[in-house]
Amino acid sequence: MADSGSGFWFHSFFLGILVASSLPGAMCRFVVEKNSLRVTSPDSVKGTYDSAIGNFGIPQYGGSMAGVAVYPKDNRKGCQEFDKFGISFQSKPGSLPSFVLVDRGDCFFALKVWNAQKAGASAVLVADDTDEALITMDSPEEEGTPSYIENITIPSALIEKEFGERLRKAIGSGEMVNVNLDWREAVPHPDDRVEYELWTNSNDECGVKCDMLLEFMKDFKGPAQILEKGGYTQFTPHYITWYCPQAFVLSKQCKSQCINHGRYCAPDPEQDFSSGYDGKDVVIENLRQLCVFRLANETSKPWIWWDYVTDFQIRCPMKEKKYNKECADGVLKSLGLDIKKIEKCMGDPNADSDNPILKEEQDAQIGKGSRGDVTILPTLVVNNRQYRGKLEKGAVVKAICAGFQEATEPAVCLSSEIETNECLENNGGCWQDKTANNITACKDTFRGRVCECPLVGGVQFKGDGYTTCEASGPGRCQINNGGCWQDSRDGRSYSACLDVGNTTCKCPPGFKGDGVKSCEDIDECEEKKACQCPECSCKDTWGSYECTCSGDLLYMKDHDICISKTGAETRSSWTAFWVIVIGLAMAAAGGYLIYKYRLRSYMDSEIRAIMAQYMPLDSQSEVPNHFNEQHP
Ligand SMILES: *[C@@H]1O[C@H](CO)[C@@H](O)[C@H](O)[C@H]1NC(C)=O
Ligand SMILES: *[C@@H]1O[C@H](CO)[C@@H](O)[C@H](O)[C@H]1NC(C)=O
Ligand SMILES: *[C@@H]1O[C@H](CO)[C@@H](O)[C@H](O)[C@H]1NC(C)=O
Ligand SMILES: *[C@@H]1O[C@H](CO)[C@@H](O)[C@H](O)[C@H]1NC(C)=O
Repeated sequence: MADSGSGFWFHSFFLGILVASSLPGAMCRFVVEKNSLRVTSPDSVKGTYDSAIGNFGIPQYGGSMAGVAVYPKDNRKGCQEFDKFGISFQSKPGSLPSFVLVDRGDCFFALKVWNAQKAGASAVLVADDTDEALITMDSPEEEGTPSYIENITIPSALIEKEFGERLRKAIGSGEMVNVNLDWREAVPHPDDRVEYELWTNSNDECGVKCDMLLEFMKDFKGPAQILEKGGYTQFTPHYITWYCPQAFVLSKQCKSQCINHGRYCAPDPEQDFSSGYDGKDVVIENLRQLCVFRLANETSKPWIWWDYVTDFQIRCPMKEKKYNKECADGVLKSLGLDIKKIEKCMGDPNADSDNPILKEEQDAQIGKGSRGDVTILPTLVVNNRQYRGKLEKGAVVKAICAGFQEATEPAVCLSSEIETNECLENNGGCWQDKTANNITACKDTFRGRVCECPLVGGVQFKGDGYTTCEASGPGRCQINNGGCWQDSRDGRSYSACLDVGNTTCKCPPGFKGDGVKSCEDIDECEEKKACQCPECSCKDTWGSYECTCSGDLLYMKDHDICISKTGAETRSSWTAFWVIVIGLAMAAAGGYLIYKYRLRSYMDSEIRAIMAQYMPLDSQSEVPNHFNEQHP
């Protein structure tokens, strides 16, 4: 079996067949993570099928992909370059991408996918050659693994033999087979926090897989810490250990690979029992890293674990013979971690008893719920589902982001590295402010673009996001004047936007109109019958009017009357009115008159106080117009 199903890695990585096979039910609980594969046409194959996500390449977690299934005429197993057969899967502009169907067998899964990718495929479906339950297509892990694995960027999936035959038949009869690959439900997204685990290893000398893991840890540390500090995720690191079968506890192998009398073992890093580091050294460092996490988590700073493991990788590599306690202590110290507490947490590796922390790790290896046993290293588990695909920052951030309930994903999920850029073209079909292009409802997310009215400078826009968005709430007038009319003349500005509430545009007093396109001046002298007292003379102005009184009288706008500057004497139609009332009902209105008089003098002093705020009292003859000049 040269194509490297998941079992392969499992056997060669761990202590050997002996120890691995002693793990109860390790293989049968291995869960294949499936994405949804849907054939939308022709009718003969229409339906949803199981497919197992390949453990390399980049699945589009959170997204979906549509394409046309293509079955090559030659090189049907995809073990050679398609170029040699003059075959290309490059789709023409505007046409659907090609999903290439290849047969299982003869070479590594990864090589088939790589060859198809080079020929322009957008995804690869590998048809199984035997009737069996689907397995995970893993990457080969032998020494000298070809470098192309790293360069696979397209997703791939294994499909059942019977489905493969139906696809071949449909394609063979010249039909266009439309296929949808959907990863949207590959990660459950129940709430606004994502729980995820990384099953990792401190060993830095296990070949390509370890190099990939180290590289990933360095890259992913940034987003991981942002997510953790923001409380968006709860991350837990895990380490796999194995136990030595009872009969071999005293053997040289188990003694060098295990601690706590054969209870916790790791494979020899160099696969050479007589030289270099032993499996035991790896178990001890793994235990230290677990303790770092425990301690950091207790002080509510779990992200320090990422600092420790990445610093340790850089400062204490096996290659430089620095993979030891002394170097580890240096790292602990530089991160301000208490070495004594770590040692206490680690316990005694020579004790013939359980280590509670490692015991917990062994228990956690056995699958729970939908997760399945962890047998591949490294393994990422997001919301209790095993992640499949390349361990690469962007792809993993995508998978974690797919674990948030829609619209609760944090900003890092919407950052430029994983966004889709669908807004660049025609603004994604979303609403856009015609006058200021950069106010738009289009938002790129890893799930594809969404049309959502924006929040600009603290002002929320409301609307359907496609055809309308309107600024609403406080501050809305600062943005493009809330879409309302505004104008200024002669140093005066008027606006139809009201900052309070979410009322739409309304012409200010002194104007009439729809408030959006236009507001027209009202001629108060004509239309409002303002300034009509005998002493008044009215002159309309833009947005208001001016009223002057004859003699040395003052015009009081609020009351539309002329009053004496001194305030002691008033002459207006109102006064005449009061004289008549008093004359007719003197006795009855006596008390009322006193009350009214006192109110009047109170008002006069109020009026003077108000006027004093706007002008020096000695130049009262020119009453400036301060009516409703501009809404703040
Ligand atoms: C993979 O990509 C790297 C960097 O882009 C390149 O140097 C390398 O040659 C590629 N490997 C193969 C097999 O194409
Ligand atoms: C880390 O801390 C959180 C909250 O304090 C807790 O729920 C979680 O179980 C802890 N994890 C471990 C591995 O101790
Ligand atoms: C839009 O662009 C203008 C000028 O380039 C800038 O002043 C303004 O702040 C931008 N607005 C937003 C919401 O980015
Ligand atoms: C603002 O809009 C909401 C709903 O969009 C409405 O219920 C509310 O009455 C509005 N308030 C004002 C002051 O118009």
